[in-house]
Amino acid sequence: CACLFACLFLVCMLVTGLPLQASAAQISLAVVTKPGSAQYIAAAKFAELVKERSNGATTVKIFHSGALGTETEMLQQIQLGAVQMGIITLGPFDTFVPEVKVVAFPFLFKDHATVDRVLDGPVGQEILKTLESAGFKGLAFSENGFRHLTNSRQPVHTAMDAGGLKIRVMESTFHKELWRALGANPTPMGWPIYSELQQHTIDAQENPLWVLSVYKLYEVQKYLSLTGHVYSTHIDIANLGWFNSLPADQQTLIATAMHDAAIFQRAYNRSQEAANLEEMRANGMIVEEHPDLQSFRDRVAKLRDMDMYAAPATRALLDKILE
Ligand code: PAF
Repeated sequence: CACLFACLFLVCMLVTGLPLQASAAQISLAVVTKPGSAQYIAAAKFAELVKERSNGATTVKIFHSGALGTETEMLQQIQLGAVQMGIITLGPFDTFVPEVKVVAFPFLFKDHATVDRVLDGPVGQEILKTLESAGFKGLAFSENGFRHLTNSRQPVHTAMDAGGLKIRVMESTFHKELWRALGANPTPMGWPIYSELQQHTIDAQENPLWVLSVYKLYEVQKYLSLTGHVYSTHIDIANLGWFNSLPADQQTLIATAMHDAAIFQRAYNRSQEAANLEEMRANGMIVEEHPDLQSFRDRVAKLRDMDMYAAPATRALLDKILE
């Protein structure tokens, strides 16, 4: 149904050409998750700032809860200009812009301060620039969070315990390879995945703690391991042609509002983590607070030597972050 709506929306927008007008009276913005989610909070803050700073002349219409399909489908629609903007999880970007997967390299960032130093510095700017090769204007990085493993089968302390788990991964070759390297059985799927977990089509998933709370995954997942294996960012983007066609003052308005919304949302996201963890415990999840991360690191080390990291541009970005 979401897919049908997404197709109708796309055809309609391409026929009428409405969103491609070089004006920003009403901006369409897509997020796959629902109100209360990290992406929606960034989107709502952006909408609020744009309205306020344009004195009501520009408004933002947020399409959420999968109304425009999966994140891969949303990226296609933004690329075509049927939708103007999106706040999209980094995972599905890697089929559009291979270089961006460097940010999701496992165990790359030791804490939020390091994340901010990299993403708000020259390397972050370079990563946003790479998006232009696929027709996106990269505006800011809002936050999904450090990803942790959950499953319905067994406590996971070492990487060996994750072996054989049927795990849902984002629609991303890189994430699939990552879980293969860990010996699990990964299946790429869009979002949401509650019924697949409930029906045991899959045993496991990995996501930041807010996701377990907003989507009540503690009802269908018993074991939580605080692996923090990947830092998951959202990339806040616009259709490049549309963005470039706007007058300079509107471009500045949009870029600064998105930057400020991302900074606001990152702080909010971080302030919720401890409460989210308590909520999981209160709802009966068994939490492995100190998994043997070295066993995970050992297994994923080989990813660095894989073909997908061989392209010079990708390798150079990864090396810069590691430095
Ligand atoms: O796992 C995902 O697909 C993402 O982390 C989610 C839940 C859509 C949030 O960005």
